[in-house]
Amino acid sequence: MSEDGSTPSERDLDRMDVRELGRLGAHLDDVEVVDDSPRHEPGGPGERRAIRRVAAWFVLSVLGAIGFVVVYVLWPWQYTSTGPQETLRSWFTPMLGITFAISVLALAMGLLEWSKTVAPPDVAIQQRHDGPSPPVAQRTFAARTVEILEQTGLRRSKLLRRTVLAAGTAFAGILAVTALGSLIRNPWRSEGPAPLVTTEWHSPDGERTYLRMDTGDPHSVTLVRPEDMVPGGLLTVFPFRESMRGDPEKLSKILRSADSSVILLRFAPGTPVVEQIGQEDFNLGGLYAYSKICTHMGCPVSLFEQTTLRILCPCHQTEFQANEYARAVFGPGARPLPQLPLAVDERGYLYAPHDFIEPVGPGFWSREPRG
Ligand code: FES
Repeated sequence: MSEDGSTPSERDLDRMDVRELGRLGAHLDDVEVVDDSPRHEPGGPGERRAIRRVAAWFVLSVLGAIGFVVVYVLWPWQYTSTGPQETLRSWFTPMLGITFAISVLALAMGLLEWSKTVAPPDVAIQQRHDGPSPPVAQRTFAARTVEILEQTGLRRSKLLRRTVLAAGTAFAGILAVTALGSLIRNPWRSEGPAPLVTTEWHSPDGERTYLRMDTGDPHSVTLVRPEDMVPGGLLTVFPFRESMRGDPEKLSKILRSADSSVILLRFAPGTPVVEQIGQEDFNLGGLYAYSKICTHMGCPVSLFEQTTLRILCPCHQTEFQANEYARAVFGPGARPLPQLPLAVDERGYLYAPHDFIEPVGPGFWSREPRG
């Protein structure tokens, strides 16, 4: 011990083993170790059983991470609107969530199980003290660290070492894949039109897309003629193609297609109108069609005030000036409601020559028109 008897001499330290140095370090730090006895006999059957349980969690974590990467890279994700492919696609995001959750939860469970069943309890009481640590405290701290490493079982069990390394690497792999995902797959580079900015008003094979009234009956088809609209009138319409006729599933499903609902308006003759640049020919006389999905947070706009010609969103009171390309004039919304082009066929029914040229709904980082 030192001259004042409070700290051991160098020779005393050299004689101490790792455990004694650890205890001494705790004592010098005013820490009283109450219990750090091993839970199992080192290398004994109890410890091996506990390590196998921990390893099982880490293996499950690895499988979850592998599943995540496989789903991310290989699972069909393109929007196809109907059919078994679409059912599969609708599971893309849930499967990412499920596999990610399995990986993270199994990793957490493995760490928990490890600390509860393999590592010693390490119950200690520490007194508060000030000032920097003396050299002896630094040395004993290092010894304590080595001792803790020994107690974790990592040095004794190759299985534990390998599985914890694999689980940690796999988890880092998930983070890397999500960070670098856009370098693996660019969602904007696809064969067909970009799914994020395509609605059911886009006809993949050029078939004409008509305006269908929402009558409340998911299976009835009522097309719209210009004369069905009185000045100041408002109608909610959905897309319809003749190939859907007689297909109850498609007819009802399209009514639930969130980004395809449209409001059709007719202005009274003489109403002053300001057209959006590049969309001057989207209207048909006094008939204008706008997306029904609010550009603030996606609520359906549903009220039309005839005196002010404003379309109102009930959620946060954004008002869109209908006769000025539905630009937002009040409330939190900022973008105009996208306008749908209109035309009339030889039988007198309204149809949309093509899809919106702007993204529908909220949350878009750019409102550049699509070419
Ligand atoms: S969703 Fe329409 S104003 Fe907020």
